[in-house]
Amino acid sequence: MVWSITAVIVSYLLGSVSFSFLFGKLMKGIDIRDHGSGNAGATNTLRTLGKGPAILVLALDIAKGIAAVWIGKWLGGDSAWVPALSGISAIIGHNWPVFFRFRGGKGIATAIGVLATLCFLPALYAGIIAILSIFITRYVSLGSLIFVFLTPLFLLILLYPWPLFWSSLIICIFAFWRHRTNITKLIQGKENKLGSSSSKGG
Ligand code: G3P
Repeated sequence: MVWSITAVIVSYLLGSVSFSFLFGKLMKGIDIRDHGSGNAGATNTLRTLGKGPAILVLALDIAKGIAAVWIGKWLGGDSAWVPALSGISAIIGHNWPVFFRFRGGKGIATAIGVLATLCFLPALYAGIIAILSIFITRYVSLGSLIFVFLTPLFLLILLYPWPLFWSSLIICIFAFWRHRTNITKLIQGKENKLGSSSSKGG
């Protein structure tokens, strides 16, 4: 039990390392949360700092999710829940980071790492559809929502264990909550498209 709780706490702290914030500070001396959509994530890093930093932030944020699940597997023994809860904890850290006044990102890249490690095939299927939707519509937010929505659905269809389904559903709910401004903008037709500049507020 102590080790399981340790896994969840360490994962939260790991998730709290906001790479987009750090890159913004190191490269331009700016707080990325005051630029572009105001989100501390890879998409806003692309808008604010460019392609190279965005790819690095994306990779590092995905790695946080992978590492959290592995920490959970390592410290959680046979439990199916501990790796999943550690992954969720890293996403919570990314979204509400203790090191950066609890103003973080929307958790999608970290969720990709978590879900791909917990349940590779459902995440892969959902990911392919999400990437296609981004290519077609150029809305990263829409693709992100499609990814977190379809993963639990594929888990259900493919009869994966219940802890994985419930965990991915929690991840989906967090993502929808964090994207509520994006959802409003998508409905209004005002959402930022990939490659276009943006105003703050996403
Ligand atoms: O993962 C975040 C993405 O879905 C939306 O980011 O900056 O356009 O709000 P942003």
